[in-house]
Amino acid sequence: MSNPSIATYSAPTDGELSAEMLQRFRRDGVIVLRDYVPVSECARLRERTLDLVDAFDPATVRSVFSTTRQTQLNDEYFTESGNKIRFFFEDDAFDEDGELRQPKHDSLNKIGHAMHDLDPVFDAFSRTPKLAASVGSLGYSDPGILQSMYIFKPPGIGGEVVCHQDSTFLYTEPESCTGFWFAIDDATTENGCMYFIPGAHKMPLKRRNYRQADGSFVIETLDDTPWPVEDKVPAEAPAGTLVIFDGRAPHLSGPNHSDSSRHAYTLHVIDRTCHYPADNWLQRGDDMPLRGFDRE
Ligand code: FE2
Repeated sequence: MSNPSIATYSAPTDGELSAEMLQRFRRDGVIVLRDYVPVSECARLRERTLDLVDAFDPATVRSVFSTTRQTQLNDEYFTESGNKIRFFFEDDAFDEDGELRQPKHDSLNKIGHAMHDLDPVFDAFSRTPKLAASVGSLGYSDPGILQSMYIFKPPGIGGEVVCHQDSTFLYTEPESCTGFWFAIDDATTENGCMYFIPGAHKMPLKRRNYRQADGSFVIETLDDTPWPVEDKVPAEAPAGTLVIFDGRAPHLSGPNHSDSSRHAYTLHVIDRTCHYPADNWLQRGDDMPLRGFDRE
């Protein structure tokens, strides 16, 4: 494959995706929509996030995350966060003495995974008629917002994310996951923007994560065809940009060795008409049914 660019458009005012946008999305698995959200809204989400971080006491979880990857799948703090607001540190956040190397807000990897249901500012950012229209354009008959993440990618210690497909972790039958990634800061090749391999979403789902009968989690390899990672293309995104990508689209991001943060907010949508396996890691519980885009 030659080195195609990622289709980039000015965001449609009403959120409705044009026929050309949909055609490129289906062909490449990803499109970039500039100026989707006003930068003032991005700033408001950042302020709210920093308030949540201020109120969070790292001592409550430091023992869990000081020495091991927080992405470890058998960590209950992670696996029980599907219906909560929880805080996950970068691998390199703590020094040998267990003290944070950087301020708290520049030490976190992400917050997840239900701010969109539990926090009014996140709810308002997530449930707009514009985004509902974009989701509708993609053909969802009964969309549900499965998870939200505020991703910090902090300066200096923001870690690399290796190539993966989000449907590995957010699996439905048939697959219905789409990622909606909002740039809160400018994302550049210097501060760890995402990269995609256009068209590679047509390859099989490579791996699936699920809970085994003994309660532990595995990531099973379903297909060992290598991704053509040499064809990756950066998705640089000024603040306010929305990147929409297929749950099968392989993507990655580099470390942030710059001196500026690369904050982003993501939502993942699935179709509620699809089967949601009971062995997926993310289980919301009967008291928090999956909701669509209606504000309550
Ligand atoms: Fe991802």
